[in-house]
Amino acid sequence: MAKVGITETILRDAHQSLIATRMTTEEMLPALEMLDNIGYHSLECWGGATFDACLRFLNEDPWDRLRTLRAKMPKTKLQMLYRGQNMLGYRHYADDLVEYFVQKSVANGIDIIRIFDALNDIRNLETSIKAAKKEKGAHAQVAISYTTGPTYDIDYYVQYAKKIEEVGADSICLKDMAGLLVPYDTYNLVKALKETVKIPIQIHSHFTAGIADMVMMKAIEAGADVIDTALSPLAMGTSHPATESMVAALAGTPYDTGLDLKKLKEISPIFTDLRHKYLESGLLNPKMLEVDTNALIYQVPGGMLSNLVSQLKQAGKEDQLEEVLQEVPRVRKDAGYPPLVTPSSQIVGTQAVFNVIGGERYKMVTKEFKGLVRGEYGRTPVPMDPEFVKKIIGDEEQITCRPADQLEPELEKTRKEMAEWYEQEEDVLTYAQFGQVAVKFFEKRRNAKYGIDGKHLNAEEPVHPV
Ligand code: CO
Repeated sequence: MAKVGITETILRDAHQSLIATRMTTEEMLPALEMLDNIGYHSLECWGGATFDACLRFLNEDPWDRLRTLRAKMPKTKLQMLYRGQNMLGYRHYADDLVEYFVQKSVANGIDIIRIFDALNDIRNLETSIKAAKKEKGAHAQVAISYTTGPTYDIDYYVQYAKKIEEVGADSICLKDMAGLLVPYDTYNLVKALKETVKIPIQIHSHFTAGIADMVMMKAIEAGADVIDTALSPLAMGTSHPATESMVAALAGTPYDTGLDLKKLKEISPIFTDLRHKYLESGLLNPKMLEVDTNALIYQVPGGMLSNLVSQLKQAGKEDQLEEVLQEVPRVRKDAGYPPLVTPSSQIVGTQAVFNVIGGERYKMVTKEFKGLVRGEYGRTPVPMDPEFVKKIIGDEEQITCRPADQLEPELEKTRKEMAEWYEQEEDVLTYAQFGQVAVKFFEKRRNAKYGIDGKHLNAEEPVHPV
């Protein structure tokens, strides 16, 4: 009987952190049956940036991917990452969309929905939790976005955990997206959380600083129920501790995972081949695999680090990475110390890039950064300096209510707007979040079926009404 559960992240966070989420469904296929036979607590395989990457870069329907994963892995609990009111997009959405997405995710095969809010504003999670609880068999896990800085003491996390349990979550994940957890602090924090709530506690950390396996060990000793790992070929670096190593470390102890190392070994060659392929194509930058304790200073999550590198590369300013990394904590302080995780990591990161390459801080301010300052994403953990607020948004007023309370229902409006592209219900949700990126994908999908000029390619299928 397993005492510590393992959530395998190879199909989501591992490749999101190392190769900007570019693993294709086709690349996953050969491993699925074997993965399904391991006996994982769950397999994280959807949500997060996978949805965006499918549409934008891989020309894949993310819903098709989910249905394929479900069909090929009938035994394992499939898990997704969901940004609450932010869904998988980059702004706040109305409650009707947020609810419908949860419903459709479960209907297409998701068992566990890990929901988090970048600002740890519980008001941004309530709609998603309620929606998940409505779906039979669905498990609503709330992830605490872990960070450090003023106000982030044990009491902050304990109070947040209490609220999470009160609103009806089934479990809590301590989500250390930036790899900031250190072993002994983790022990104290997990112990305090276990003494506070009755629901299970799961730990998610990144290996960036080279200590995430020690973090897991101390978390387990403090009573953590489940840990996140990645199969070794795509583990460590900005990814997670290796599944095989954690299984081996815990074997024969009261914390035995119950997983079989030999079975895990049989899967690795599939991902080792992919790792080589990614290294050769340049998709996997060896830098992402190095131990980097700078994360502990700059608090930059793995995914964000690779984004900053590629943003600077595009601007031809790769040499300014160090300056941007130093600017990030300053922007974060100005913005009320938000944890750095999507979307706040992109918002703060892009603003830091602008501040550095623009030559003057806040000479150019992004629409999203203005939104963050205006309160469109919720309450920041620390109030912002009113003078800074004025500098960024002028005489506009800050929002203090739950941001979604200001949003009109969107579902029916969206449905009308995208009617031309409709092939399945799920397309409405795809379009709602990704607009023009979704349209480009829909266009390619239609062209693949009917030809560029709208001419009918396959006589078996009816011509799509244009
Ligand atoms: Co992560």
